[in-house]
Amino acid sequence: MQLRPLSLADTSAIHLVAERMRETLIEVEGEAAGGTMYSMDWLRDRVCWHLDGRAAEVVVAEDATGGIVGHTIYRVESDGAAPFGLISTTYVAPEARRLGVAQRLLARAEDWFRERQVPISCTWTSETNRPLIALYARNGYAEAERGPNQLTQTMMVRLAKALTP
Ligand SMILES: CC(C)(COP(=O)(O)OP(=O)(O)OC[C@H]1O[C@@H](n2cnc3c(N)ncnc32)[C@H](O)[C@@H]1OP(=O)(O)O)[C@@H](O)C(=O)NCCC(=O)NCCS
Repeated sequence: MQLRPLSLADTSAIHLVAERMRETLIEVEGEAAGGTMYSMDWLRDRVCWHLDGRAAEVVVAEDATGGIVGHTIYRVESDGAAPFGLISTTYVAPEARRLGVAQRLLARAEDWFRERQVPISCTWTSETNRPLIALYARNGYAEAERGPNQLTQTMMVRLAKALTP
């Protein structure tokens, strides 16, 4: 498996990532809420927004045949007082799970943050997302904050950890 950062030229991969963002919403929020929350155009634009010259990466994990088995998107948030790293989404295709793909993607995000002297890495997820919470717990993350998702009222948790240089 290899990790590859996307560029705006990777249109088919961008489309696939957008589709899988929708799959993620369905898996986490359920078909009714997750499937209708955002249009495909909105999701594609959101992927492209991360590739539009800002401090962000969209990274796909490819198997030996070049098939995309997972992805993650992360960025530096610097609107507030201190910059921090935000991993906005991660998804691994069901047939490729429990093989360490998400672990590799998370390690890449953290390395990328460290290279930019970003002191904190964090992500938001539903409090019911046990696989993701287990993955982050084993990597030293702890719950730092919680609050309802404005759209779905699902209780969300922010998992965070300080990054050592
Ligand atoms: C969460 C998700 C990304 C994990 O991907 P993955 O590639 O299967 O994870 P890994 O193989 O790297 O797992 C590493 C560790 O995380 C934990 N973990 C991962 N999946 C788990 C599960 N289903 N149950 C319990 N622990 C789990 C385990 O500690 C695992 O190590 P182990 O397999 O040696 O026990 C994947 O299940 C997924 O895509 N889920 C749907 C999308 C989603 O919820 N994304 C997050 C939205 S915010």
